Amino acid sequence: MADRYAVVGNPVAHSKSPDIHAMFARETGEDLVYERLLAPLDRFVETVQAFRRAGGRGCNVTVPFKGEAFRFAGEHSERARVAEAVNVLRFDGDRVFGDNSDGVGLLRDIEHNLGVPLRGRRVLLLGAGGAAQGVLGPLLSAGPARVAIGNRTLEKAERLAARFRQAGAAAGPCARSFEALAGEAFDVVVNATSASLDDAELALPAGLFAPGALAYDMMYGKGMTPFLRAARTEGAALLADGLGMLVEQAAESFLVWRGVRPDTANVLASLRAS
Ligand code: ATR
Repeated sequence: MADRYAVVGNPVAHSKSPDIHAMFARETGEDLVYERLLAPLDRFVETVQAFRRAGGRGCNVTVPFKGEAFRFAGEHSERARVAEAVNVLRFDGDRVFGDNSDGVGLLRDIEHNLGVPLRGRRVLLLGAGGAAQGVLGPLLSAGPARVAIGNRTLEKAERLAARFRQAGAAAGPCARSFEALAGEAFDVVVNATSASLDDAELALPAGLFAPGALAYDMMYGKGMTPFLRAARTEGAALLADGLGMLVEQAAESFLVWRGVRPDTANVLASLRAS
């Protein structure tokens, strides 16, 4: 019987992960099935445990359960510990291993797929919630000249920045309110707020995009979000949504489960085409 995997979330009906992993399985010849599991908001652990008892070998975890998945896992990778969030669970007998492939997925999409190396660049991360926290460690480890966390609520950005400065990061992030970003320019601006979910504009000052800058929205499936539209108007040279990050975090999950890293280019191209 094929090994079983799943994506657990709420909502989960529109997740593209089953299509992505089916393509990875075909490409690598791995014998597995991958399904969607809708967990009631107060039943994450029960849902995962039932899947394990039914023979599940691992799962991806999506909104809003990444914090709960972190607490559920008995063992963690270093990058999951830093993010305090887990989007990959692997069931090793009676042990549960938790990992986080979101940050490395974002990094790989920016540096490899989009061809924008982060070393020496000025990076602005917008948002200070779970999504921002999950990618900050890998962003810092790519060696950018500076990382600013810009958030509507300054205190949240300050708390996040302080946590990563304490973690001994080489170049610690700084925290800014949106207004305080006026007069600064960045080579890469990543939108990790949840504003694109409800098509909300971000009240950002003008002039944030340096010549040649990349504007990256971690949201996917929303087309031109208000953030990307504003970035285009502001002269950003490159615009990207989060579909590449989704495919890259999936490839990294596949590696954690199966020990083989699928090639992502064809999968990403076929998702873009559909
Ligand atoms: P997630 O897990 O998706 O990060 P979250 O933890 O609720 O969700 O965090 C949402 C983030 O999006 C926050 O940084 C939030 O800013 P505040 O801290 O000021 O609330 C940001 N956000 C959501 N809607 C926004 C909007 N319309 N404008 C600016 N920031 C917004």
